[in-house]
Amino acid sequence: MCGIIGAITSKSVQADLLQGLKNMEYRGYDSAGICTIDGMQLAVSKAAGKLVNLAGDLEKKEHTGVIGIGHTRWATHGEPTVENAHPHCSGNIAVVHNGIIENHIGLRRKLETHGMRFVSDTDTEVIPALLSKLLKQEPDMEHVMPVLLSQLEGAYALGILNVETSDVLWFARKGSPLLLARGSRGYYIASDGLAVAGVATEMLYLNEGEWGCISQHGVRVFNQEGCEMSDHTWQRMPQLSASTDKCGYEHFMLKEIHEQPSIMTDIMTTYASKRGVQFPNVAWLNDAVLPERIVMVACGTSYHAALTARYWLERYLQVPVEVDVASEYRYRNPIIGSNTWLITLSQSGETADTLEALRLFKRRTPDNRTLAICNVASSSLVRESDGFIALKAGVEIGVASTKAYTAQLAVLALLAMKLAVRSGSMSEQVWQEHYQSMCHLEVDMNETLKCVPDIQSLTPLFANIHGVLFLGRGPSFPLALEGALKLKEISYLHAEGYAAGEMKHGPIALIDAQLPVVIIAPKQYHLDKVISSLHEVKARGAKVILLTDVSMDDYSDEVEKIIPLPTGDYFTAPLLASIPLQLLAYEVAKFKGTDIDQPRNLAKSVTVE
Ligand code: F6R
Repeated sequence: MCGIIGAITSKSVQADLLQGLKNMEYRGYDSAGICTIDGMQLAVSKAAGKLVNLAGDLEKKEHTGVIGIGHTRWATHGEPTVENAHPHCSGNIAVVHNGIIENHIGLRRKLETHGMRFVSDTDTEVIPALLSKLLKQEPDMEHVMPVLLSQLEGAYALGILNVETSDVLWFARKGSPLLLARGSRGYYIASDGLAVAGVATEMLYLNEGEWGCISQHGVRVFNQEGCEMSDHTWQRMPQLSASTDKCGYEHFMLKEIHEQPSIMTDIMTTYASKRGVQFPNVAWLNDAVLPERIVMVACGTSYHAALTARYWLERYLQVPVEVDVASEYRYRNPIIGSNTWLITLSQSGETADTLEALRLFKRRTPDNRTLAICNVASSSLVRESDGFIALKAGVEIGVASTKAYTAQLAVLALLAMKLAVRSGSMSEQVWQEHYQSMCHLEVDMNETLKCVPDIQSLTPLFANIHGVLFLGRGPSFPLALEGALKLKEISYLHAEGYAAGEMKHGPIALIDAQLPVVIIAPKQYHLDKVISSLHEVKARGAKVILLTDVSMDDYSDEVEKIIPLPTGDYFTAPLLASIPLQLLAYEVAKFKGTDIDQPRNLAKSVTVE
């Protein structure tokens, strides 16, 4: 979602703001803006479209102020226009905001009756308007901030400038991530550590409800009750900047697809050895009573990883596993028994729905354990969970998740194997076999990457079609969902993933020569039955792409292409089949000429509901 940066430094902040926005552009990219205080006046520059448009404007009109805020937007309220771009101003106040103000219509109506005029369609604009009005009655920002925040319903991370307090930058956080950072030149606020990578050496995560200000000399942080906090736990900035380079690849997505083999080895050397699996941040996985039930909650691609893990956990641990999308889980009435573990999966660790699902689970059953499997160690999800397994995937920049997904699968496979061994349902011999096959993932994935020319040869098949169907069974069924999601996200083609056995119950009506069908058929998961589906779609004229790890030369006349996969076992087969699916989405998107790393309407981190 939107990205926020703010800075107060010893020299002009324009370059730091722009670089920070560039580092966070993956969060939202439909418009951007900055505001500085130049000569005791607000100086605002905004541009619709990608950040390069704003950068071009700033080359012509430079900001000189040493205090400023910046924003890259993912539109929630109002189209991506200059008027709707942040910062939003009223009188001496400028505001950048990430989140959604749910009571903005009521606030706007009230403010309009007091003569305030609005120029944008955004929910955010009520914040500077309300603050200006409050400051007319009480000019002290420190007194007014809690009053302002008490009137805002919804989620926000805020950066606020007030010309009257031009030596401090105000901030607040509720429901949307925000951190403070410091470096040799000054102090910063940011939605994401990446924004200040390169300028800051230390950072401080804000908790829910905290607000305060930064100046050239330090930070002041107040809690929700208005008490000033005296102790601050500053952490060293992690090395984030290097990964934001494409390293010669045309797109971040392609680079991240190619990083997957070595990530598998990183995961294996960090967490597994011949003796078993150890997750250092979750000691209780070694000795806690095994759960009677597991609940897994996530969104999008992370949800698909959870669906695959359900097959593994139910087969080997032999406990019921419930998997739900977080936006549904948090609003239904989930019946959570005792001795139930919640596993949340998230690349970012800031997905609003997943966080709320975790909070609901903790409120309802505080004695149950919660485990976050996440790529961002410092995220809210990790900080609010009882245990954390790091994905070791490195910063993922491409909006369509690839390496975080396979890292989730690999970690989940190890988790299932560890728990299965603990429960006695996986023998030493079976564990060793799966361990060996997991260790071989780097080699096997590199082999899989050789399918690029085959995949490229298929792209013309995706012109003039009315959709694409992905079919799989068992742990390959969620993979079919993921293959369809990847294709939709970056090529804008309609695609659906289906359990192959469900095809006869409806989707078969769609099948004709203009509906390519991708069939995922590893020998591990009911191969004969999947092949029956192949015959059925073929009989109706579909063009079939077959992904399989068995020799199927007999079928070469029946299908457009067979994409050979290295032989996988019950755990590794979906990991290996993921790569051709990601490459298919990538190559089709490239063929169609879409914006692969920043596809329309999407944002990397969905921090609003
Ligand atoms: C798809 C994609 C999204 C995310 C989803 C959850 O390529 O990236 O579907 O998987 O928004 O995000 P995280 O994993 O950060 O919670």
